[in-house]
Order: sequence, then structure tokens, then C-alpha cells
Amino acid sequence: MSSTRGLEGVVATTSSVSSIVDDVLKYQGYHIDDLTEHASFEEVIYLLWYGELPTKEEYNNFRQSLMDNMSVPDEIFDYMKHYPVDKVRPMAALRTAVSQLSLYDSEADDMSEEANQRKAVRLQAQILSLVTGFARIRKGKDPIKPDPALSFSANFLYMLNGEEPDETSIKAFNKAMILHADHELNASTFTARVCVATLSDMYSGVTAAIGALKGPLHGGANERVMGMLTDIGTPENVDSHVQKLLDNKEKVMGFGHRVYKTGDPRAKHLREMSRQLTEVTGESKWYDMSMKVEEKIENEKGLLPNVDFFSASVYHSLGIDHDLFTPIFAVSRTSGWIAHILEQYENNRLIRPRAEYVGPENKTYVSLEER
Ligand code: ACO
Repeated sequence: MSSTRGLEGVVATTSSVSSIVDDVLKYQGYHIDDLTEHASFEEVIYLLWYGELPTKEEYNNFRQSLMDNMSVPDEIFDYMKHYPVDKVRPMAALRTAVSQLSLYDSEADDMSEEANQRKAVRLQAQILSLVTGFARIRKGKDPIKPDPALSFSANFLYMLNGEEPDETSIKAFNKAMILHADHELNASTFTARVCVATLSDMYSGVTAAIGALKGPLHGGANERVMGMLTDIGTPENVDSHVQKLLDNKEKVMGFGHRVYKTGDPRAKHLREMSRQLTEVTGESKWYDMSMKVEEKIENEKGLLPNVDFFSASVYHSLGIDHDLFTPIFAVSRTSGWIAHILEQYENNRLIRPRAEYVGPENKTYVSLEER
């Protein structure tokens, strides 16, 4: 019995949610280029969960049900007010709050298909309110209720800032939501599937997934990219700063990918969004620095940017606090996690791989007194 480090190349399940073939990413058979160009995030959630794009009527009903389910129990916001808000990171707050949601859902442990469908909508809607609510609470402000006239993406920005966002910001945020929605068997989605394959509930699956997404080798990279760009400061400093990272054998955040060999197909969209948005804000230095970092890493290491690299300057240009970047990823990826959780329940088998034992053999117990 021999092991595969990091399960590289292991095909652990079948899935019809999304595919990566020849470095092309598709959701339920639809190319992401097509979806980012034309779809709303709500349509993409529907597509991931139900396998087809909604009709106009289905779309309207689905959008309405997301809107109707956005409010979270007051108790959860009350708890948040008691978190040590100056120390708590939003991603840890989100992980805790999603787990708390289950305590107020009488259907939390109801495993019927109908209950799971209802929970899916609740969770997707409420996670938006949790992220925006905590972002406000930690600044001493009250959470804002959704505006039913606004889309999911527009509501995120509205509930974060208390002002109706402009069209450019809404469009960019909607695109970013679509690009992050699903990604085959990435680490957090695998985590969610492992969790619910024990027939644990959807809240547990999403809570576990948030924990996995939080790490810097996965979704946590986008916040760190912004940290790196801030440390670099100006385009002139890119070369020496990045060289130092490479000399110290540090991982450069936002580069490399386990699956893509010719580049992450989401990066080109985010690169272009970064170019446009930084121009609008008059802060094109973030884009210029990003381009220089990209060139340097490709030349020195042959590595290409992943989804997290340009999303950093995109979210920064939208005026979003840097430690909210990964929670925003979670808001989007909840759609994919839930699609995979529902798929896992449909055709479940416990996920239980083996480990190749490499520890000592044939040891004999020695009593405490004799050790
Ligand atoms: N910076 C510098 N070197 C890198 C990087 C990087 N970003 N990525 C890979 N390498 C190097 C490794 O040091 C290693 O070199 P070595 O063989 O000389 O030791 C080689 O490339 C292979 O790297 P692994 O870490 O083994 O590749 P793996 O497939 O396990 O990891 C990962 C993929 C985690 C994405 C990696 O590229 C990485 O750590 N990137 C930075 C973090 C990041 O951006 N994560 C977000 C990924 S996208 C997402 O999850 C949403």
C-alpha cells in the first residue's frame, strides 16, 4: 500500500457540478467565460444546484426566495457583538456564525430532500448577511437589511456599506461571485463532501468547508496577496521584494495551482477587471504592481497566477477591507459547496481512505514508573 502525497491526481468521486478539462472550467457544462459574460450570480447558483439555467419564472421565484431568507436570528448578531471584535478575524467569525445558524434552524438535522433544499436557500442567503453584518458590527455599526429591489451582488455591497453601489461595482462583484462559485474537488469542497458523507448535516458541511477555505494555501491567499502588494508599495520595488521572497523559499501568494498547468482560466477575467477598476479608482499602481509580480514569478519560477492573485486588487478597488476577501470567497463558494453536498447526499457512500503506516513497529508498553 503506497500513498499519494496530497492526493494529487486521485479521482475521488464522480460529479456533474463542474469540470476542469484541458484547463477549461465549466459549471454543469457551461463555460465560465460564457457565464461571466452573461449570467447573474443567482442564475449560476440555480444552475449549480438544479443542473440547468432557470426559466424567467424560476429565476424570479429563486431570487425572491433568496431575498426572503436573508435575515439571520438576532441572537447571532448579539453574539457577534460579544466577540472580541478588535481581535477576531472575519473568517473565524464566519465559521463560528455558520455553525451557530444551525442552532436556530429547526430543520438543521432533517435530512429529507425537501428540508435540504430549504436549508440550501437559507444558508446561501444568510451567509451574505453574516459577512456584511459582522463587517459592520466590528465597526460599531448596525447590520443593514437587504433591499429587495437589488440583486444578490448589489445587496452584498449595499449591506456592507449602507449605500447603493454603482453599476460598475455591481457588475464586477457579480463577475467575481460567478468566478469563485465552484471548482470541482478543491480542498474546501472535498472537506464538505467528506463531512456530509458521514450523513452529517449541511451546516456541518459548510462550517467544515469554511475552515478549509480559510487556510493560506487555499482561499486565504487572496488577503495575503493584498498584504504582499501593500508591503511592496510601488512598482519599482517589485523586483527586489519578490526576489527576497524567492530567495527565502517563501511561497508567493496567488501563484501556482495543483490542477492547472497552462494557467487558471479565471485569472484572465480578474486581471482585466483589476485593470479596469484600478483605472476607475485612479489607483492603477495596484494593477501595475500585480503585472510586474506576475512577470517576475513567471520568469523566475514558471508559475502563473491563480484566482486569488488579481481578485485582491479587484476587491481592494471596490473599497472592501482586506480581511473580508476570503469571507467573500466563502459567500460565493457556498453555492458550490451546497451543490456538492446535495450531490453527495443523492448517491452517498462514506469517504474513508487509508493511510500508509510509516511509524515504529512492535513496541511494548512500559509502565509509567519504569519510563
Ligand atoms: N510560490 C513559490 N513557489 C511555489 C509556489 C508559489 N506560489 N507554488 C508552488 N511553488 C513551488 C513549490 O515550492 C514547489 O517547489 P519544489 O518542488 O522546488 O519544492 C513546487 O512549486 C510544487 O509546489 P507544491 O506546493 O508541491 O504544489 P501543490 O500542487 O501542492 O500546491 C498550491 C498548489 C498550494 C496552490 C501552491 O502553488 C501554493 O502554495 N500557492 C500559493 C498559495 C495560493 O496562491 N493558494 C491559492 C490557490 S487557488 C485556490 O485555492 C483558490
